[in-house]
Amino acid sequence: MSEPTIFTAEQLTDYLRRTVSEKRFIHSLGVAGTTEDVLVRFRCTNYEKSWKGFSAATFCGLAHDIAREMTDAELLDYCRKNNVYLSTEDIEAPVLAHGTVSAEIAMGLAGAFPFSWYRALCTHTTGNAGMDDLALALFIADYIEPSRTFMAEEKRAFYLGAGSIYRCAYRILCDMIDHWRAKGFHDASSGSLAMKAWLEKSKGCIYG
Ligand SMILES: [Fe+2]
Ligand SMILES: [Fe+2]
Repeated sequence: MSEPTIFTAEQLTDYLRRTVSEKRFIHSLGVAGTTEDVLVRFRCTNYEKSWKGFSAATFCGLAHDIAREMTDAELLDYCRKNNVYLSTEDIEAPVLAHGTVSAEIAMGLAGAFPFSWYRALCTHTTGNAGMDDLALALFIADYIEPSRTFMAEEKRAFYLGAGSIYRCAYRILCDMIDHWRAKGFHDASSGSLAMKAWLEKSKGCIYG
């Protein structure tokens, strides 16, 4: 791994401003702030809160979509060159790998941050079973942060009005799966189905 070049949230913010579109930059700032809000709202403690002066929410919010604007070919090429594991699903739809590639790029920039943060970055798009509070908050924030203007305020309030972070994530996950199916984009990924089954069986989640 190369030597770190980013040591503060301000430097990570500057890097992002220089490397992604303005829309993505604003989205990433929104995800950082909303991740923190979600963690506070649901009184979350089950996550690693800080590392080398970075807060978990700020670091993961800023870093989660670093690779989101890479093309499919660029994502595949990055993974090949850097020995990043890709599932068959990732190879068929490389955009699914942007969380993992974002985590890898962030590690190259800032050094080996906590593995739980790495996992949160990897799972932010589709989810997976066994996510900790940080991963759940990032997943939620990615969907509801303020620049997601397609979302009605009532819907945002419905999500945040769930009694627990598990139920909040479950409501979003079910709506995402329905949306993908209705639009005919693709069926739910294995990660999303694993997350759904985990939240139902281990956390007793039901929709509503
Ligand atoms: Fe993303
Ligand atoms: Fe995002």
